[in-house]
Amino acid sequence: MCGIFGYVGRQRSDLSSLLLRKLSKLDYRGYDSAGIAVLHKKHFQIRKSVGEVNDLKSKLRGIKISGAVGIGHTRWATHGGVSVKNAHPHKDCSGNIVVVHNGIVENFEVLKKDLLKKGHRFTSDTDTEVFAHLVEEESKSKNFLKAVRDSFKKLKGLNAIVVANNDGELVGLKRGSPLVLGVKGEEKFISSDTPLLSDITSRIFIIEEDEGIYINNDVVKTITLGSDKKSVPKFRIIKINQNKVEKKGFKHYLLKEIYEQPQVVMNIADNNKQNIMETARMIKDAWGTYFTACGTAAHAGLAATYMFSEIAERHVNFSFGSEFPYYEDFLVERSLLIAASQSGETMDTLEAVRAAKRHGSKVLALVNVPGSSLERISDKTLYLNAGPERAVLSTKAYIAKLSLFLLISYSMLGEYEKGVSLLRRSARSLKRIFNVEYQRKLKRLSKRLMNKDHIYIIGRGLNYPTALEGALKIKEASYIHAEGFAGGELKHGVIALVEKGTPCICIVAEDRAKEAILSNAMELKSRGAEIIGISPKKYNVFDFHLEVEDVSTASPIVNIVPMQLMAYYITILKDLNPDKPRNLAKSVTVK
Ligand code: G6P
Repeated sequence: MCGIFGYVGRQRSDLSSLLLRKLSKLDYRGYDSAGIAVLHKKHFQIRKSVGEVNDLKSKLRGIKISGAVGIGHTRWATHGGVSVKNAHPHKDCSGNIVVVHNGIVENFEVLKKDLLKKGHRFTSDTDTEVFAHLVEEESKSKNFLKAVRDSFKKLKGLNAIVVANNDGELVGLKRGSPLVLGVKGEEKFISSDTPLLSDITSRIFIIEEDEGIYINNDVVKTITLGSDKKSVPKFRIIKINQNKVEKKGFKHYLLKEIYEQPQVVMNIADNNKQNIMETARMIKDAWGTYFTACGTAAHAGLAATYMFSEIAERHVNFSFGSEFPYYEDFLVERSLLIAASQSGETMDTLEAVRAAKRHGSKVLALVNVPGSSLERISDKTLYLNAGPERAVLSTKAYIAKLSLFLLISYSMLGEYEKGVSLLRRSARSLKRIFNVEYQRKLKRLSKRLMNKDHIYIIGRGLNYPTALEGALKIKEASYIHAEGFAGGELKHGVIALVEKGTPCICIVAEDRAKEAILSNAMELKSRGAEIIGISPKKYNVFDFHLEVEDVSTASPIVNIVPMQLMAYYITILKDLNPDKPRNLAKSVTVK
């Protein structure tokens, strides 16, 4: 779950600045720590810092490290705590081999034990450092490239590794995690992120499974794990629209992205007919349709199961990406897996897709980032077209997925236009939530909630996933324990935790779940809960009412937004960073 960037090229007087500039665009892969290694006069100069790339930048202000070879890394800690010693790059005993890594070396303890016996000295608690020592050990009897390849073969797990030595050779190898190469004249770049390179050059080479690249000052060759064969990379021309992502007057990306949602919904309503029709056909032809996704995308997938049932009267299944591999045995060639992911790089989602592919099943992807791994391994892609999402909390990509699922459901019924008109209504009603008076009200409420220990959220039917998503938004940004439940479930245990003043948000849509969810609200109120209602109408049971428009089956699109905003305001009131909450990453590229 980390970001990798490497460079081999001409002597640059400030290679360190280039590495830092590029790394700062990889923050979304983790911001526990950052580090660079620049080969300067045959010695690696390594600089690391805990926190975001900006923290490392400040530490290095005014310092320029020159060189022609360098690697850099942004870390999301898996093995070993968040500390400078555990920050990448890691080195071998001699300091002549440096390595950055994305993934998990599952057998690192066994490998480390063996290396310790052979006299290697370790300076970190990471799984990554093992690789530097492995290469050092293997290099005793073979050349660098062979040593790296043989070391990589010893690793278990899904890993992308970039390793360099003080002779100016660099090797990148991958299994599972992405790695791409870009070439511009004499300069070669390697990264875990295609858009990062397409910013520099359109000559991109996407490294395939169990393959890699070898670079020195004169050559760049593709290599395979299984053989000594080297070949010339076959570059593709990839151009990605690099619109500069700015906050456009908003203090944080999170708020900006929440406010962009009406436009995202309108976009989807106006631009997808052909694709949606084809998708509906794919689902009709399939012998079973399964949704898979993680995090916020998973809540959209779960909401889709309700939409498909209620609107299209169609049974579909849902499973988290991480659970799907234990749930795949009944897949057949005519099964369809629909995988939804903002980034298209979430490892668990990708693994689910690979599992489906092993069964020969078809895969449809819903993706926001063009050129992502998910897009590349899927049979068909529907783009969210939500624009870059920078805040770690996913908001507009969630709304985009819900909008697409709604349209697909209506298409299956032959009522595409009805879906479009509901989306238009939803977009208009979202704009009303953004008016000044509404924001004041939300801020007042957020002030009341900011010192609470727990917030419970209930919904039913279409809005049960909304309750889960609302809770996720609040807890991941504000660190308040928030939990979403199906309205009927609370009384089976969790109601024991409700006491006088416990805030409970009740999502009451004008649908067949209304009476039941209002009864659940009454049950909570009888135990002293303070009831915050999100609904088109005001009911007596509410202590606080957040009005939303009745948009029928599109209600999940509208009902989530007040909670997204609450999450934002509570976080601001607590003086926390809503764009980069602790311990999280925008893109989770490990299992
Ligand atoms: C991380 C992010 C979440 C996101 C999830 C799935 O956990 O912090 O915001 O929902 O990954 O990401 P994806 O890119 O697959 O939608």
